[in-house]
Amino acid sequence: MQGADLDGARRTASFRTMIIAQITDTHLSHADAANPVFGARAENLRQCVADINGLDPMPDAVIHTGDMAQHGQAGEYVHARSLLAALEVPLYVTPGNRDSRQEMARAFADDGYMKPDCAFIHYAVEAHPVRLVAVDSLAENGAAKGDLCRVRLKALDATLAEAPARPTAVFMHHPPFDVPAAPDPFAYQRRQAAADLAAVVCKHPQVVRIFTGHMHRPWMAKVGGVAASTVPSVAADLRKGRYAPTMAGRPVYQMHRFEPDWGFASETRLTDSPTQA
Ligand SMILES: [Fe+2]
Repeated sequence: MQGADLDGARRTASFRTMIIAQITDTHLSHADAANPVFGARAENLRQCVADINGLDPMPDAVIHTGDMAQHGQAGEYVHARSLLAALEVPLYVTPGNRDSRQEMARAFADDGYMKPDCAFIHYAVEAHPVRLVAVDSLAENGAAKGDLCRVRLKALDATLAEAPARPTAVFMHHPPFDVPAAPDPFAYQRRQAAADLAAVVCKHPQVVRIFTGHMHRPWMAKVGGVAASTVPSVAADLRKGRYAPTMAGRPVYQMHRFEPDWGFASETRLTDSPTQA
């Protein structure tokens, strides 16, 4: 689609603004009196959920970009769901390297947007002004670094081809770009995986943004000509980067506001802050 056509498409398909709250890397496990870390992480997520529910306007959707659980155990997703159930807007999830895609899919299949027995957690959400497409970037060997096989890239290409006129945001765990501030800047096992993803994105100019997690710090880049970002972990003890001392222990997440004229604008939000500066 050419630029002018895309501009027209962006304006005609009942476009209105959309707000997405992105939470990521909650690394939850069962709270254990002997290990207060997981109790604190549960509290971090509770704070984010309460903060999101208190926003005015409310976001249209929340995305969780992976590492929801620490060990990928079924009980950890029961715990996560119990915390996330308080959200007053729809939630869409994608797995991180700490997750089990099977356990995550089982835990969230009742929500209806993905199948419980899928080979990969890959789906599209049509219910919002911006189409959301989840990509599963887990490596098959269980490594921390991600990968994208031919099957998933083909599925992404086909899913994007279904709706060329709808502005679309892709969300996934591993950022397909270098984060030079990180000790290990590249999150994939193979450079080619990121190059292949960029090539698919290039074919579909309706893709307006790529949201990721994994790095536990904020960073932005361009992938296939599209703005791509990663955000701080909700788990405050795992957050990377430098922050004001007053933020210690307080979780952050990001808000992404879509306007048809310029795409997404993002801000990092510290929980329990005024909604207007
Ligand atoms: Fe993580």
